[in-house]
Formats: sequence, structure tokens, C-alpha cells
Amino acid sequence: LMEQLTFFHDHTMLIVIMITVLVGYMMSSLFFNTYTNRYLLESQGIEVIWTILPAITLIFIALPSLRLLYLLDEVSDPAITLKTIGHQWYWSYEYSDFIVLEFDSYMIPSNELDTDGFRLLDVDNRAILPMNTQIRMLVSAADVLHSWTIPALGVKVDATPGRLNQTNFLINRPGLFFGQCSEICGANHSFMPIVIESVTTKTFIKWI
Ligand code: CUA
Repeated sequence: LMEQLTFFHDHTMLIVIMITVLVGYMMSSLFFNTYTNRYLLESQGIEVIWTILPAITLIFIALPSLRLLYLLDEVSDPAITLKTIGHQWYWSYEYSDFIVLEFDSYMIPSNELDTDGFRLLDVDNRAILPMNTQIRMLVSAADVLHSWTIPALGVKVDATPGRLNQTNFLINRPGLFFGQCSEICGANHSFMPIVIESVTTKTFIKWI
């Protein structure tokens, strides 16, 4: 899905570039010609063309966009569920499939960071998930609006008090995946990062 999002971005950017070049050429050419039409008051023909052509262009963007929108909402038989709750200003995680596994995940302050740490991005307790597994993500908040966002996974879900939002993803490789809160939630909004540690199923079960 992240790949499809990238393709859609490229597709839309290409259309934007074509429009920019066309309009740019037409505007600049106005500066360099001396033609005048003393009798032009209106022209129904050109009005029809420059109304319908942009409408068709918009359809070429809207249809792939809708396709992606519904594709992103599809939950395909997840193997595990991870629930996260946004707090001021940290995330807490609950692995509800297992007995009781809950923990808070705070950013590591710069002065406590190791030399190889990721400044403003690393957390004390990372959310560990198995790779090549469909994961259901449940997102909520305890106090104000937050947003659980990991760009590399194509995931961005608002955390709303009193609501439980759902999304899903599959990580196809091991490693660290960083994200940040993206809903203005107070003084330390910038300091509640998200870290997913993607590991093999075996390692994950051992960790559980
Ligand atoms: Cu939580 Cu911004």
C-alpha cells in the first residue's frame, strides 16, 4: 500500500507538472506578443473547453485516489492486534492478544541519549512486531487528540478520546520504523515519537 501511495504521488506530480508548464508557457507568452483583438468580448467555445478539460484532469486524479482510499481501509485477516493510546505526551501500547502486556513508550531525552541513539526519535520502550505478518492497529487517546503516524508504513490514524480507530499494515522487512505524533496536542507534541521494532516471528514470540 505504501508503494501504491508512492505511485499515486508520482502520478499526481506528473499531472501538476504538465499543468504548471502549460500555464507557465501561456502566461509568459502573453508578455512577448503584441497581438490585440479589439472585438473580443466573450467566447463560449473557449469557456466550454477550459471548463471541461480541468474537470477531466480532476477525474484522472480522483479515481486512483478513491481506489487507494478504499484499499487502505481494507483489513485483511490480521494475525495480531496492537492497541496504542495517545497521552500527553507519550504513547502506551497494549498487546491484547496476550495475557497482560502493557507498557508506556516515552521519548529518550537528548541528555540521556547514547552516542548512537536517534535524537528526538528514540523511545525507552519500543513496540515490537513480527515482520511479514498482517497487523491490526487500534488507536485511541486518553486526553486530547493525537495522531499515530509512521510515514514509512503509510499509516496515519488520529487518536481520539472516546473513539477506537482501526488500521492495518504488514512490514516486509526487519528494522526500526520511526514515526511522530501529527496532531497538535500540547506543549510536548513534538516529543512523543513512535518506534516500531520489526523482528522475525521467532524473536517476537521469544520477546512476548
Ligand atoms: Cu500527541 Cu501531538
